[in-house]
Amino acid sequence: MIKTINLVKKFDRITAVNNLNLEIGKGEIFGFLGPNGAGKTTTIKMLTGLLKPTEGKAIVSGFDIQEDPIEAKKLIGYIPDQPFLYPKLTGMEFLQFAANLYRVEDPGPKIDRYLRMFELIQYRDDLIESYSHGMCQKLVMGACFLHDPKVILVDEPMVGLDPKSIRLVKELFRDSASGGLTIFMSTHTLDLAQDICTRIGIINNGNLIALGTTKEIVSMGRTGELEDVFLQLTKPNSQL
Ligand SMILES: Nc1ncnc2c1ncn2[C@@H]1O[C@H](COP(=O)(O)OP(=O)(O)OP(=O)(O)O)[C@@H](O)[C@H]1O
Ligand SMILES: [Mg+2]
Repeated sequence: MIKTINLVKKFDRITAVNNLNLEIGKGEIFGFLGPNGAGKTTTIKMLTGLLKPTEGKAIVSGFDIQEDPIEAKKLIGYIPDQPFLYPKLTGMEFLQFAANLYRVEDPGPKIDRYLRMFELIQYRDDLIESYSHGMCQKLVMGACFLHDPKVILVDEPMVGLDPKSIRLVKELFRDSASGGLTIFMSTHTLDLAQDICTRIGIINNGNLIALGTTKEIVSMGRTGELEDVFLQLTKPNSQL
């Protein structure tokens, strides 16, 4: 579960996120959409505790991320838009490192499971510096599931993934959500959002301009395509 209460982030002159109030329940896949520079990454970074809000608060899995960061972070999996990986570790070593960081007991079988799931098993002993972009993305995705998080925060999950991996991630997200995981994801891939999100929020210039079930949001347009609703709502000075 995720809750933001009057969440604000200002950078010097600009308000990147303006008074955001969201409540996302257990088992939801929430799609956070918006044009470039709308405030998606800033919001996700506040939810992870990486950025301190200018005002307001964020509650993740029952813990205030600023007041109880350690407890909250135990329950969070985070996939940044530009993940940092240690190039001189092997894929296997990176997953072991991530498991240790989160004190996962007996991580071996889980590591093996994600390496196989993402078809990285044959590259497990290769250095990460030799991995392709998509392979790195899959490694980070596997790492973020190792400690059985209750909430996953993911900034553009599918960038760089091939069609088979996209299908795999969709299934992983759907299965995990039906098991009670809450997924908060930003994406520009509107088909993906329409396909797997239970609810959608659209942010524009820091303001939440639409919020509803995917069905509700899609039905705001005339074509049944989320893309049309998105483009219409994010036009300057425009309303449906
Ligand atoms: N560290 C920073 N210092 C100053 N301004 C920032 C900083 N980080 C973000 N911003 C500004 O905040 C606004 C929101 O940026 P943010 O990265 O959250 O957008 P986004 O919705 O993730 O965009 P994109 O789709 O391009 O990833 C932008 O105007 C950006 O320039
Ligand atoms: Mg971003």
